[in-house]
Amino acid sequence: MNDNLHQLRCFGCGARISGTEAQPDFRCVLCGDLFEVEYPGWGQRGGNDRPNPGALKWLWRERRCSSEALDHSGVWRFRELLPILDSFGDVVTLREGNTPLYQLTRASKALGIDQLYAKHQGMNPTGSFKDTGMTAAMSVAKERGFKWVACASTGNTSAAMAAYAARAGLRSLVLIPEGKIAWGKLSQAMDYGAVTCQIKADFDGCLRLLTQIVKEAPIHLLNSVNPYRLEGQKTPAFEIAEAFDWNVPDHLIVPGGNLGNSSALGKGFRELRELGLVARMPRISVVQAAGANPLVRSFEESHGTALEPVEAHTRATAIRIGNPASWRKAVRVIQDTDGWCLDVSEAEIAIAKTELGAEGLGCEPASAVTLAGLKKLCARGAIASSETVVLVLTGHTLKDADYTIDFHRGELLKENETVGLEAEIASLRRNAQAVEATPAAVLAAMKGSAG
Ligand code: F0G
Repeated sequence: MNDNLHQLRCFGCGARISGTEAQPDFRCVLCGDLFEVEYPGWGQRGGNDRPNPGALKWLWRERRCSSEALDHSGVWRFRELLPILDSFGDVVTLREGNTPLYQLTRASKALGIDQLYAKHQGMNPTGSFKDTGMTAAMSVAKERGFKWVACASTGNTSAAMAAYAARAGLRSLVLIPEGKIAWGKLSQAMDYGAVTCQIKADFDGCLRLLTQIVKEAPIHLLNSVNPYRLEGQKTPAFEIAEAFDWNVPDHLIVPGGNLGNSSALGKGFRELRELGLVARMPRISVVQAAGANPLVRSFEESHGTALEPVEAHTRATAIRIGNPASWRKAVRVIQDTDGWCLDVSEAEIAIAKTELGAEGLGCEPASAVTLAGLKKLCARGAIASSETVVLVLTGHTLKDADYTIDFHRGELLKENETVGLEAEIASLRRNAQAVEATPAAVLAAMKGSAG
């Protein structure tokens, strides 16, 4: 590895090691905390390794016109800010990243916010934001000569890992909580050839089990405890800053599960600021499902100094996580940027998801927590109408079609979950109807539909 360009720094005790010294579970041997990738050369003004902001902005824009596979990737287009490989020839890419930033016209009108956008990370090769992290960590695994990679997952990480492993010619092992992940995601892991084990445990139990396994066999762990995953997942911050011509939005809202993504995006914006590419960081807020809200509780109970694991329950299965690994990193991001940490109910998630769908931007339930959270913040008067807000949509709507169909059929939510919201939900439901095969019947169906 190119250790002179990057090293790993323990988030807890600050110990520094080279990349190749990391333990299989990516935990610090001294204090048990997680590592972050750091680039010592960047700290020295004028140091040889310190990137030049103006030159980089020009180079990254030029690469959009290049025909090189590496330049087509929205991760590796920014490779100067993730020098984690000896050779970029080892990169495993599916042309991830470069995802669209859509303006949300209806929601911005309804909420009275002038500038509201969705960064749709579901528009990645395997349909979720995990691809940006996977290209980075899989490339490291391949370069270091691993034959096997593995992850515990609520579905999206396993889909991404299986695809990138297949591209790299590596074998992959997936541990998923039995009966608790969406079929679309499970089908992807099968299609891409992973050894898929459905475990009688929740996500947190699967990750614990895998942590034991990687200590016994030469397997590269690809959960977001792997710091190289976060190097890829920080790049949407670069795309967002670039899209706003290097003036960052005021506020970024991210779903929170295992809390790798919020940590990575925070790192991305922090590095841009440290390198002089942007003048400030956006406020970064994290939204959890109310039934899987250990970080929200941590802020309420101890200002983010301790985290009590919870037994997680939510139909947004992607974020059904009670003991998030990267919680300390996420706390730092929220505190450094003056962000909020809040939770939303099952009904609020379902409504927000349907509203995004009605703008032509389908997404996973876990992604819709961002709009549900923003609505809550607006209701509290916490958002000024002049603010530019970006919601990070993390997964594609087809990942969990069952959820969507159940909502529109009126079979998703229980009565006690919808109290006070019945009319709103009824106005959003668009169930498929059985209609006679005659023009009159079809025209009548059109007439009878709400506008
Ligand atoms: N949204 C989606 C669609 C996800 O799949 C996940 C996490 C998150 C949000 C939360 O991101 O964990 O970085 O805070 N899914 C993981 C998985 C846990 O296994 O696919 P996070």
